[in-house]
Amino acid sequence: MTGELAFPSGFLWGAATAAYQIEGATAEDGRGPSIWDVFAAVPGAVEGGASGATACDHYRRYREDVDLLSTLGMPTYRFSTAWPRIMPDGRTPNPAGLAFYDRLVDALLDRDITPVLTLYHWDLPQALQERGGWVERDIALWFAEYAGTVHTRLGDRVKHWTTLNEPFCSAFLGYGNGVHAPGVKNPRTALRAAHHHLLAHGQAAQALRAGGATSLSIALNFSPALADDPADHDAVRRFDAVHNRFFLDPVLGRGYPADLRADLAHLDGLEPAIRDGDLDVIAEPLDWIGVNYYAPTRVVSLADPTEPSNCPLPGLRGMSVLPPRAPLTVTGWEQHPASLTDLLVHLSEYTRTPLVVAENGAAFPDVVDEGGRVRDDDRVRYFAEHLRAVHAAIEAGADVRGYLAWSLLDNFEWAWGYGPRFGLVHVDFACQRRIVKDSGWFFAEVAARNAVPAEGHPVTPGRRADR
Ligand code: FCB
Repeated sequence: MTGELAFPSGFLWGAATAAYQIEGATAEDGRGPSIWDVFAAVPGAVEGGASGATACDHYRRYREDVDLLSTLGMPTYRFSTAWPRIMPDGRTPNPAGLAFYDRLVDALLDRDITPVLTLYHWDLPQALQERGGWVERDIALWFAEYAGTVHTRLGDRVKHWTTLNEPFCSAFLGYGNGVHAPGVKNPRTALRAAHHHLLAHGQAAQALRAGGATSLSIALNFSPALADDPADHDAVRRFDAVHNRFFLDPVLGRGYPADLRADLAHLDGLEPAIRDGDLDVIAEPLDWIGVNYYAPTRVVSLADPTEPSNCPLPGLRGMSVLPPRAPLTVTGWEQHPASLTDLLVHLSEYTRTPLVVAENGAAFPDVVDEGGRVRDDDRVRYFAEHLRAVHAAIEAGADVRGYLAWSLLDNFEWAWGYGPRFGLVHVDFACQRRIVKDSGWFFAEVAARNAVPAEGHPVTPGRRADR
């Protein structure tokens, strides 16, 4: 139909969540504490002193939430399993924890929703943190054991597996600048933790393959670096190396980029962590790559290449990050859909691997109106623009197989607590009432039509919002 941009047939539509952000029930049925439970209890660590103790109460309300997915006609759902629920001490399986995901997967399959399972979305068992967490090399073995346990239980019904979500955040924010759990502030340690994330990914991928997995991936968060002046190309290179290629190149079997190794040499954190054979383990071939995209980063070079950056990524020097440009979201992220097109086109060529946008979305100041409707026009527009950007990438030849909106529900947004709302569905955290936002209805319609309105064509929330 004119006026709309159609996606390839078989394109995968869905919504995403993560265990700690929605489940609540942190002490239920034998679940052990995670690093986020402990971190959230530290005064000042999370806005408003919030935690995931209740969150969206999804542990108890998962049937209702699966019904919501079904109402929205979502063919796919990306969720994560909580390691501390499945292995409260990090290593010993808890039957009640496994049983929860068994029920969730069955509920999804009952409604013809394809599960996409992420094994780690930042909620490390505290017991393992006490043994060193991601700084301890043995974590690779512990994670592979856990991956094998979950796969043995659910592999007959779950086809799509993602090892780690955004090791960048979990290593660099968790162990580098300390804004995420476990709150360690040590750039050298962060580099070690990052290597162990990749090693754990590789060992888990091997375990899953050995168990017969045929659809394996990792979800990486990319922030394309933008410079106005071509003379700032070295700032682009430096930022891209530590933010993006640090994680991407090793999983593609290319090892750590030589320029990154040179840039980081002064910290002496990465090299001592690498042992013979590690890079081969990390290079376990993948079937697709999850691309999490929110915003680009504006960069500029510094005259002195050894001057520390204002950006707190481990070892980053010789460049500065500039303020993002309007329009911004509630989290201060620049809205720049063209970067998503460029990123997907570039990654498709660079990886020669199918891509799935595993997260994309935005927080805006939502209001529930008197009629109980959330008219989140900003988010509708955000999704329309970013979906057109994905469509443009596909037109330009990028092999993009799916798009999973972040997020199904408003939820616990890590160190920001319950402030920023990313959901397609509004959650009233006082009473747990769910309301599908206009953006939810809009996204449902996009998924049903397998097409997004072209630019200049009306972007309506979808017929059902008016009911
Ligand atoms: C990503 C995380 C996800 C959510 C979004 C907004 O970095 O993977 O859990 O916090 O950002």
